[in-house]
Amino acid sequence: MKFTTFAWPFGIVCATAVVAAFLLHDPEPPANTGFASAEPPKTWPDYSVNGPGFKVPGGDDGPLIAHGYELITRTFANIGPKVEDRAMRFAGNNLTCQNCHLDAGTNRYAMPLVGTFKTYPKYSTRDKRVISLSERLNECMTRSMNGRPMPDESREMKALLAFMRYVGDAPPAPAQPAPEAPPLAPDASRGAQVFVTVCAACHQENGLGKRTGAVNDVGGYVFPPLWGPDSFNDGAGMDHYERIVGFVRRNMPRGVDPLHPQLTLQQAWDVSAYVIAQPRPHYQAR
Ligand code: HEC
Ligand code: HEC
Repeated sequence: MKFTTFAWPFGIVCATAVVAAFLLHDPEPPANTGFASAEPPKTWPDYSVNGPGFKVPGGDDGPLIAHGYELITRTFANIGPKVEDRAMRFAGNNLTCQNCHLDAGTNRYAMPLVGTFKTYPKYSTRDKRVISLSERLNECMTRSMNGRPMPDESREMKALLAFMRYVGDAPPAPAQPAPEAPPLAPDASRGAQVFVTVCAACHQENGLGKRTGAVNDVGGYVFPPLWGPDSFNDGAGMDHYERIVGFVRRNMPRGVDPLHPQLTLQQAWDVSAYVIAQPRPHYQAR
């Protein structure tokens, strides 16, 4: 195409766009009532490293929502077992929520937190009763994070709830199907082979993960531990086949396309059997 034939229609489009932008421009920004709450994203948000990322929303609850985002992405640095203020030590390990709820809970294939706010209160098969969202959150706190419950009136619980409400407006993702049964019964010794060849590169040969900084600092992990004293406890969903198999198959090695898994179904069951067989803290109700 010659430049001139292209330039003509292009010029018209540009001129139209300028006129349209002028006509549509709202000269008066809406008045700040002082009670405005953040306008939640209507579409599915993407807080992955490749996405547009999290921006502190406007509105009075913006800072609280941002604190919730901080808690989900850097739990260890705010409420981990090594933070200076002992009263703030809610989590018992140095994991962060998004080690499992990937991309700050915006990954559809890793137990998303988007769209779940309005599904609570809801019946819990674990508790055999209807539970609130803060109760559900504390179940992750006491099991996945091996910690103690956060009081409802704490700023941390309020921040996490504010964040979940903020990303709660998008329609929930369809639940991921439970993993199909494997061709052979899951076997931990075959799983050990999968672990060494596939997982150890990141989670380390000893499964204890790779620290960002030093032991006993508040820096958390580059690659989180899969077992051992600083991992999720035996009451956590991740310690059970119905959660770990699907999670690992869809998301590990980290970065894999969930729709085209790298592991076979059998490998996912076998490596899960291996991980489940390893030592980890024991869940204690508190
Ligand atoms: C070791 C992995 C792991 C970690 C770490 C973790 N969770 Fe979870 N979480 C899970 C699993 C597994 C489920 C169950 C998902 C399901 O029911 O399908 C879950 C469920 C939830 C739910 C209920 C979601 C729903 O759809 O009903 C909430 C809320 C939640 N987690 C919040 C958190 C918060 C907040 C943190 C950090 C303080 C956290 N989790 C840390 C694994 C984890
Ligand atoms: C390329 C590096 C890499 C490889 C290889 C890898 N993972 Fe991960 N894994 C990660 C990262 C990073 C996270 C935390 C995700 C985040 O914070 O975004 C994670 C999180 C996890 C979690 C949840 C958090 C926890 O600490 O328990 C499990 C379970 C897991 N991986 C299992 C596996 C298994 C099993 C394999 C081998 C089949 C594997 N991973 C291979 C990087 C990797």
